[in-house]
Amino acid sequence: MPVRRLTSYSHCAGCAAKLAKSELSEVLGQMNRWSGTVPNLLVGTETGDDAAVWQLDAHRALVATVDFITPVVDDPRTWGKVAAANAVSDVYAMGGRPLLALNVVCWNPELGTKLLAEVLDGAAEVAEECGMVIAGGHTIEDPEPKFGLSVLGEVDPGHVLKNSALRAGDDLVLTKPVGAGAVSTALKAGEASEAVVARTIASMVRVNAEASRVALEAGATGATDVTGFGLLGHLGQMAESSCVDVSVDAASVPVLDGAAALVEAGHVSGGTRKNLRWTEGRVEVGSVDPVTVTLLADAQTSGGLLFGAEPARAEAAVSALRSSGHTCAVIGRVELPSGERAGMIRLG
Ligand code: CO
Ligand code: CO
Repeated sequence: MPVRRLTSYSHCAGCAAKLAKSELSEVLGQMNRWSGTVPNLLVGTETGDDAAVWQLDAHRALVATVDFITPVVDDPRTWGKVAAANAVSDVYAMGGRPLLALNVVCWNPELGTKLLAEVLDGAAEVAEECGMVIAGGHTIEDPEPKFGLSVLGEVDPGHVLKNSALRAGDDLVLTKPVGAGAVSTALKAGEASEAVVARTIASMVRVNAEASRVALEAGATGATDVTGFGLLGHLGQMAESSCVDVSVDAASVPVLDGAAALVEAGHVSGGTRKNLRWTEGRVEVGSVDPVTVTLLADAQTSGGLLFGAEPARAEAAVSALRSSGHTCAVIGRVELPSGERAGMIRLG
C-alpha cells in the first residue's frame, strides 16, 4: 500500500486540473500557423476539437490525441481504467475507432512499481474492451503522479464528428450524467459516501464507444465529449465554432445521484470555478438555481458524449443508449444565433 491515499497526491481532481479556457486559447493562438495551409490536416487546433484528424487517402483518416490526469480515485487499477476511458473518448468524440495507444506516465517513486503495474493493467483492460492495443509509452518522475494515454485511431473522412458542426434545429443529446467532478473533489476530502463514489466510478469507466456509434447512426455531425470545461464550457465552444446559439432545459440534464448535495456542501473544484467564471456573459441563467448551474459547469473526468441530431433521430438515439445501460437524455436544442455574436447558451 502507498504511504498516503492516491487522491491525496493530486492537487486537484482529474480533468479539473486543466488550464482555464482563456489561458489555453492564448497558447493555441500561436499554433494556428498550420490552419488552412496543410491540406491533409482536416481538424487542427482552431475549433478546440477533441483530437487532430489527418487524411491519409479518400477513405481513411488518422485521429490522434493525448490525455492524462491526476488520481481521481484511490484504487490504482480503477484510476488506470478511468484515465484510459477518458483518453480514448477523444477518438470516439470525433466519430473514430481507436487502434493503438501509448502510456503517458508521471510517477512518484514512493508509490512503488507494483502500484504502477496495477494502473497500467487497468488501462490495458479498457484497451481490450475498445479493441485497441497499448504498444509502448514513456515515464518520468514527478511528485504528483499522472497517467493517461496517447491514442491513435481511424475515421472515415466523410463522417468526422466536429465541435464546429452543430446544426440549427438539432436536438442535443448527452450520454452520461454530470457531477463526477464534485464527487471526485468530495472523495479527495474524504467526504463522499461509498455509494455515490461507486456510481461515479461506474460512469467514468464506461467507454464512449457505443455512444459514438449511435451518434453516427443518428446522422450527427457535431459532437464532443464533456470533460474539464464542463457541459457549459464544451457546449459553449461548440456553439461558438458552429455559429449557433443553444438552449438547454436544465431539469432534463442527467445528474449523478448524490452530486447535488455535495455541491451544496461546497465540494466545488478549482476547475469548476474557472468554468463558472467563463460562463459570465455567455450563459443566460434565467431562473435556474446556482447549484444546478454549478453542476452544469462541473469539470468532468471521462464524461459523456454531447451531440446534435434531428429531433426524431435524437429520440431514437436516446432510447438505443438507454437500452444499453446509458444514463442519457435530450437536454436542449440548437438554434440560429439571435444576436451579433453566436455561441450564447440559454438555460431554462
Ligand atoms: Co475531449
Ligand atoms: Co481530452
